[in-house]
Order: sequence, then structure tokens, then C-alpha cells
Amino acid sequence: MNKTLAKFFILLFAVTTFSCKTESKNTVHHSEETAYDAKVDSLMSLMTLKEKIGQTVMYSGGWSVTGPVISSNNKKFIKEGSVGAMLNVYSVKGTKDLQKMAVEDTRLGIPLLFGYDVIHGFKTIFPINLGLAASFDLEDIEKGSRIAAEEASAEGIHWTFAPMVDIGRDPRWGRISEGAGEDVYLGSEIAKAYVRGFQGEDLSKHNTILACAKHFVGYGAAQAGRDYHTVNMGMDELRNTYLPPFEAAVEEGVETFMTAFNEVNGVPATGNKFLYRDILRDEWGFNGFVVTDYTAINELVMHGYAKDRKHATELAIKAGIDQDMMSSANREFLEELVNEGKVDEALIDDACRRILLAKYKLGLFDDPYRYCDEQREKETIYKPEYLEAARKSAAMCSVLLKNDDKALPLNNNQTIALIGPLVKDKENILGNWGAAGDRTGKAISVHQGIQEYLNDSKIIFAKGCEIEGDDTSEFGKAISAARKADKVVMVMGEDYDMSGEAASRTNINLPGSQTELIKAIRKAVPNKKIILVLMNGRPLDLSEEDTLADAILETWFPGTSGGHGVADVIFGAYNPSGKLPLTFPRTLGQVPIYYNMKNTGRPIPPDNPHEDYKSHYLDAPNTPLYPFGHGLSYTTFDYSDVKLSSKTIGFSDTLTASATITNTGDYDGHEVVQLYIHDKVGSLTRPVKELKGFKKIFLKKGESKTVSFDVTVEDLKYYNANNTFDVEPGEFEIAIKGSSDFDFKQSFILQ
Ligand code: GLC
Repeated sequence: MNKTLAKFFILLFAVTTFSCKTESKNTVHHSEETAYDAKVDSLMSLMTLKEKIGQTVMYSGGWSVTGPVISSNNKKFIKEGSVGAMLNVYSVKGTKDLQKMAVEDTRLGIPLLFGYDVIHGFKTIFPINLGLAASFDLEDIEKGSRIAAEEASAEGIHWTFAPMVDIGRDPRWGRISEGAGEDVYLGSEIAKAYVRGFQGEDLSKHNTILACAKHFVGYGAAQAGRDYHTVNMGMDELRNTYLPPFEAAVEEGVETFMTAFNEVNGVPATGNKFLYRDILRDEWGFNGFVVTDYTAINELVMHGYAKDRKHATELAIKAGIDQDMMSSANREFLEELVNEGKVDEALIDDACRRILLAKYKLGLFDDPYRYCDEQREKETIYKPEYLEAARKSAAMCSVLLKNDDKALPLNNNQTIALIGPLVKDKENILGNWGAAGDRTGKAISVHQGIQEYLNDSKIIFAKGCEIEGDDTSEFGKAISAARKADKVVMVMGEDYDMSGEAASRTNINLPGSQTELIKAIRKAVPNKKIILVLMNGRPLDLSEEDTLADAILETWFPGTSGGHGVADVIFGAYNPSGKLPLTFPRTLGQVPIYYNMKNTGRPIPPDNPHEDYKSHYLDAPNTPLYPFGHGLSYTTFDYSDVKLSSKTIGFSDTLTASATITNTGDYDGHEVVQLYIHDKVGSLTRPVKELKGFKKIFLKKGESKTVSFDVTVEDLKYYNANNTFDVEPGEFEIAIKGSSDFDFKQSFILQ
């Protein structure tokens, strides 16, 4: 009997066993999970130990390089049934070729999972995630990840290694660009929006993909902002800051988790039973599967936690890690460890079952090629509505940090000098983790975006300098352009690979001679408006630029349609509404600095910031240059009439807080109305303020709206001194504002 026929009978047995099982059990409708469980059990009853171990192995196809390149005979291992998933392979043809090997050349024909880093778009690239967070627009974030899932699934991808939900508070850390910034509430809400977008309503549909909450946990707290560095934190910080966005992803139904490279309090995440069995599975009830980060099992040896790779393999599976990305450790050592009695086969059964369950949910056993539709691939990639959505996101993510004397918006009858190394850029504009995005010309540069508004005769371009390096030889041409123009627009920032993985910096200034060029232009045209447009993957120290430029527009890396979106803001077609998802310090010396810090026992008095024996610096204020939640508009918004439904609430009550927001300026616009709470006394000290809600509203000029927030004890709970998630009675300050930069004026009592 040939292989295919044998396999057919084997799978038929699996299915009929399942159907018999269902009939034999009862006619009660089981949940989808139970239905799949029966199928998985049937299939697993046919699998050898080697085949079960195969499901726990992932290799890279090398189409993208996202870690140390390690050659491996993937095709041989796939044909042996020793591979369960592949990463860094995409396109219908690329995935179908490998899928055919798994389905047709192995004994049981178990399909592969194809995973890829679809972080902020697949081919149509959206602004980097830090920028998306700045939109404070959960619907738009969900929509963007839905579009990413449509494109990725059309090219054979079943699984994205996103959302990255690491809280980031150190701008030296390059991966701060991939997250949602410094705040727990914002990060948690955004994590849920990504999961909804990627996974959709029904994973069995071929345009939905598995999401992956990463990197569990604490990666953003790496010492000194140096990537992969040690993480050490108390239970207060772990439970009240770094864990909540991951728990939010679990609540939203995220199907997979990825381990962090770092250790957490002496135990590397990839071998950390407390994290993966005690918290993730026992406390949170997560029943998806966990994949390691790239070669992370092997790295337990370098951490000094495993004596060799075999020991590392044992530690990882015992910690609850299901799949090995690129270490080869599971494939090489698990069978031996079981045969030596060091690893219970039941642990491998658990891991294998979780991975097979995901494949069933995706419908891969019904049709392993359901994501391999060449017609759909042609019709889906770069749909005009996707590029338009990316344009809108780019506009919504831009944050107007400064706009003295209404330097912005520009009108179309002024001549502008367009200066800077990123004016015509079509490569860096995608930012890091640009997936399968095109860096060779598809993206719209800021120059092209501006050309849509301004006739070429009114644009005088001069690059002026490079992103890096100390060459000032082109300054003269830039100065000459500035002298001939009415206004100066400078497009500057970082190279895209100055942030992202393994891209930490010890200084957060504009690189190279860019600041020097701004100084030279300011000196040459002291009375002309200078508008600084930034592309960067982290908060920068803009203290000097803040004194030189009249307006500063933070665009992050705005993506494939970035030039259009940024120009829409510059010329006022979109009134900027972005708000900072993290703090911009005055100087790196203040880091870590974030809005929801603790008060300390010696806070500085607001009216005397230099009072002696108080918590302050000798050479800088405590305040940041631009705070969390900050972002200007071309109009102004007035907050008034903040009302509380009661001054006292009981544990089962709901407090309604409301404010009237009025557009008091000359432009219609969006405003992100933010709700902040301060728990004044706790069994653990509490942050001086915490974001507990936000609503993005649209107001025509002169229009007013009342915005209200309902607050219950659920919003006031935290992990207290007893490590329990609970609320404590007492006084809570409350405010509704347009930024975190305020002092509380009202409070209520919970009793
Ligand atoms: C990388 C990253 C991780 C990514 C993985 C696969 O090392 O840390 O975020 O998903 O490898 O590319």
C-alpha cells in the first residue's frame, strides 16, 4: 500500500475515531475545544514519541533574518516528521512547497504552522507600534492588524509573532519601538485590540491568524536599556506593571505566547516555571501554546542556568514551554531525556496536544492548503483601501509636540525649504520589523506627500546631511535653500535599524550632525519658521531642538503611506490628534522617567522645586520635556465642569465622572480625553497617577461635548501587599484631562 493511501487510512481512522467518540459520548453539543480535543486525542494515539516531539520543533526558512543565521537541513527534518512549524517563509508558493512535504512525504501528513513577524503590517506597512499607540485609537489599531492578517494569510502565514506587549520605559532600549509605551492601561487595551485584529472572530476562516503575546515577561525592563540584559524587579512592579498587558491578551483569547530572552529575578524566562506554569497556566488559565524566542533554549546555557543544551531542553519543557524556535534542542534531546526517565512523556504529550489543537482551530487538517490561494494572494496584497488605511493611521499617529505661533499648518502658496536626510527616504520610513514590506521604492516619502500639496516650484530641496556621520559639507546648500524660502521644513531622525532588536543606544540624541544643521539653519534665518518633522523609534532627547524649532511633529516611522499621512498633517488636511504613549525626557540622565512614578517620602514641593533635602537633581528639573499623554492640535480644547456622581461610593457602586470639553479654536479636531486616578494610600505605595480610561472624541470648532467615565472597584484594584488583586478603601483623587501633566483637584471616598 503506498504512503498516501496509508496516510489516508490513518487520518480516516483519526476522524472516524473522533466521530465514533462523539457519537459514543453523547449528543450534547460540546464546545469547539472539546470537539477538537477528541480529534487531537485520536491523532495522538497514532503518533510515535518522535512524531510528537516533531510538533515541538520550529525552524526558520531564512526568507527574513530575525536572529543568528543557523543552517539546518529543514527539508530533511520536515520529511522525517521532525518539524511542527516554520518561521520566516512566506508567499503561497514558498509555504505550499514546504507544506506539501509535510502533508505528502511524512507518515501522518500533519500540516506545518507557518509563523512570521507581522508586527505592524505584512506588505502594507503601518506606522511602528509606538506610533500606533500614539493614536490612542483602538479601532484603528484593530483595523490595521486585521489588514495585516488579510495580507499575511493571503501569503500562506498562519501565525504572527505579535502583539509585542512589553511595557517600555527606557528609551535606550531599541525594542521600545515595538510596544505601546509606558502605561499599563493603554498597553493592556492595545494588546486586546491587536489580538482581536489578528485572530478575528473565527480562526477557522482563512483570513485569520494566530496571535502571539510576547515577550513574556519583563523584557522592557532590561538593565540600562541594553537588549537581552538582566531583569530584576519586585513583585509589586512585576504584577502591577509588566504582567497586566499579558493577562489582558489572555482575556482576549490570544492563542500563543512567546518567551522573553531575559532572566527574571535570576531565572531565565525560557526556563521559568513560576511564569509559565504558576502564573500563565494555573492563575490565568491560558490553554494555548508557548513558543520560545529564537534559540532561547540554547541560551539557558549562556545564562548559566543549564549546564549544557540537553539540560536546557529538560528545564524548558518542565517550565511549560511547548515549542522550540531554532535551538534544535527539542529535536536532538527530548527523546533521549524521555528514555532516560528525566522527562515524563506526558509533558511532551501536553505540548504536542496544544500545538495540534491550534492547527485544528485553523482548519489545517480539513485543508492544509487553505492559506495557499494564488488568486487571493494577487487580489489581496496592497489593496488601495489598505494603503489608504495606512495613510490615515500615519496621520493619526503623528504627535504635534510643539507649535509656536501656529507655525503649522502650512498653506500651499508658501515656498518651503525641504531639508534633511529623511525627506526623500523610502526605506527607513517603514521602521523596524518591516516584515515583507518593500524598502526599495514602494513607500511614499515625505517629499512625495508634500508634492501632492505643493507645486514643485514652491519646494526647494536640500538634503543637508546624512542620518549619521559628522559631514557638514552640504550645510551650505541647505542654508541657501532656507534663505530663499518662506518656511523651513526639516525631516530628520534615526535610521530604522537604530531601534528594534539588538539596537540599544547609549545616547538618545538625534544622530550625526543633524542637530548641528538645525542650529546652522536657525542662525542663518533667525526669523523664519522652522518645522522639525521626526522619524524615530524611541523617545529622543529634544531639549536643544525644542529651543531651535518653532514646531516639532513626531511621526515615528509612518509606514508605506507615511509621506501622504505626514503631509496631510503638515497641510492641515488632518488636524493632529496623537498623544505620547510614553515620556520624552529632558535628558537621558532622568531615565527611567515616566508619568506614573511613586511620590517618594520627599517629593519636591510644586512651589519650591529646589527645596533642600527633597527628591530632585542638581542639574535638571524632575519634569520631562514632553509628558505621557501630551499632544497638541491646531485647535484648542477647554476642559470644564468636571462632575462626580458622588463624593463617596461603596464597594458595589459605580462612580460616574464627567467633564465638558469645548473646541475653543479655529479647526475641527479630535481630542483624546483621559481619565486619571490616584489611590492616595495603599498597603503598597501607589503611583502618583494612573490612566484608567480614555475616549477619543471629535469636536467641530465651537462645539462642546460632555464625556463621562464610569468607575467601579474593578478599576481601582491592584496586586497589594498580600499579592492579591484587590481594592482597599480610602480616598482616590480623580481627573479628566488632555494629558498627564496636571495636579489633581477632586477626589472621592471608597468605603
Ligand atoms: C526574534 C525576536 C522575536 C521574534 C522572533 C522570530 O529574536 O526576539 O520578537 O518574533 O525572533 O523572528
